[in-house]
Amino acid sequence: MTNKDVIIIGAGASGLMCAMAAGRHRRRVVVLDHAKKPGQKIIMSGGGRCNFTNTGVEAENFISHNPHFVKSALSRFSQWDFLEMISTHHIPYHERDHGQLFCNNSSSDILEMLLNECKKVKVDIRVGTTIDKISQMEDGGFSVSTSRGILKSQSLVVATGGLSIPGAGASPLGYRIAEQFNIKVWPTRPGLVPFTLHPPDKEKLSGLPGISVDATVTVGHHSFRENILFTHRGLSGPAILQISSMWPPGEAVCINLLPDINLEETFKKAQSTSPKRKVKSLLSDFLPKRLVAAMVGEFPADQALHALSHNKFRSIAQNIHQWHLKPGGTEGYRTAEVTLGGVDCNAVSSKTMEARQVKGLFFTGEVLDVTGWLGGYNLQWAWSSGWCAGQYV
Ligand code: FDA
Repeated sequence: MTNKDVIIIGAGASGLMCAMAAGRHRRRVVVLDHAKKPGQKIIMSGGGRCNFTNTGVEAENFISHNPHFVKSALSRFSQWDFLEMISTHHIPYHERDHGQLFCNNSSSDILEMLLNECKKVKVDIRVGTTIDKISQMEDGGFSVSTSRGILKSQSLVVATGGLSIPGAGASPLGYRIAEQFNIKVWPTRPGLVPFTLHPPDKEKLSGLPGISVDATVTVGHHSFRENILFTHRGLSGPAILQISSMWPPGEAVCINLLPDINLEETFKKAQSTSPKRKVKSLLSDFLPKRLVAAMVGEFPADQALHALSHNKFRSIAQNIHQWHLKPGGTEGYRTAEVTLGGVDCNAVSSKTMEARQVKGLFFTGEVLDVTGWLGGYNLQWAWSSGWCAGQYV
C-alpha cells in the first residue's frame, strides 16, 4: 500500500498541470493513467503542433450549463501565465489566425515541458495502471484500488478527460466517479466534430471531396466564418467543427457560401452589362465549378441572365446565401476533438475545483461540463483548471 497526499487520475493536460502545481506546494503526488504513455492527446493536438492556447481567451469561448464557471480559473492562470512557462522553457511558437498559438516544432515540446516540471517536484507518474475501485475512507481520505496495488491519499483529482478518441485512452471513468459520489453529470455528446449527411445530400455532394470554401455557418444565434471542407463522409473544416458544438441534433444549419458579396445585386448588375451570360458562368466567378455544378439542381443554371426575373435572382441568391442543410449526424467520438456535457459545474467550486459536497475530491479539465471552441481554448481550460486545483489539493 502506498500513501500519498494527492492521487491524480489521468496523466493528460490537466492532470499533469495539477500535479506540477501541487508538487510545487510540496505535496506528494502520484498520477495514475491506464494508457501506456502520458499526454497522448497533447501529442495529437493541433495536427502535431499543439494549439496550446489562444491570445483572446474569454468566458464567451466556452460552452457550459454554467457559463460563468470558467471565469475564475481562466483569470487566475491565464494564457499569459502559460506563455510565461513556454518562454521559460524556450519553446518556439507562432500565432495563426484568430489568436491561435502553435508550437513551431512539435507538440512533444509541451509534453516534455510538463513532464520535466513534474520531475523537478518529484511527481510519481504511473502509466499502464488500471483503476478498479475508489472509496472514501472514514478519515475523509481516498483509497484507490489499481492493477498495481492500493493507494491512499488525502485528496483525489479526477482528470480523466472526455470520451473522444477512445484509442487515445478516453473512458467514462470520471463520470462514473462523479455519479458514485452523487454528483450530477450532464449528458455527453461529441463536439468539434465533422458532420455526416443524409443519403440524398451525400449523393448530391459526392463530387466535392477536397473542396474548401470560405463560408459563414449559422445555428440559432451562433455564427462562424471560416473554411468549410467537403469530405467523403460529409462536411468538415473549422467552421463546421465550431458549429457542431452548438448544433441541436436534427436541426438544419444555414450556410452562406458567399459571405462577402450581395449575389442578388451582382446578378442585377451583370444582367445589364452581360445579359447573355449564363447563371452558372457568373457563379463560377465566385465558387469552385464543381460546387456550382452540385448546386445547379436548385436553380436554372443554364439560362442566360436576360431571361430571368429579379425574383428569380433573389431566389438563386437565397440558395447560395442561405443554404439550409440538415446534417445526418456527426462522425462521433471516433473523430471528435472534445466531449460536450460532463460533471456539473454547479457541484464544483470554480475557485478550487473541489466538489462542494465531497471534501478532498477535485475535478479538472474536460471531464467537467466545460467545452471550448476550436482554437486552443480546450487546452487552456485544462491548464487553468489543473493549475487552480493544484493550489488546494
Ligand atoms: P486528457 O484527455 O488530456 O487526459 C485524460 C487522461 O486520463 C488520459 O491520459 C487518459 O488516458 C486518462 N484516463 C481516461 N480514463 C482513464 C481510466 N479509466 N483510468 C486511468 N486513466 C484514464 N485542444 C486545444 O486546445 N488545442 C488543440 O490543438 C487540440 N487538438 C486536439 C486534437 C485532437 C485529435 C483531440 C482529440 C483533441 C484536441 N484538443 C485540442 C482537445 C484537448 O486535447 C483536450 O481538451 C485536453 O487534452 C483535455 O485535457 P484533460 O486533461 O482534461 O484530458
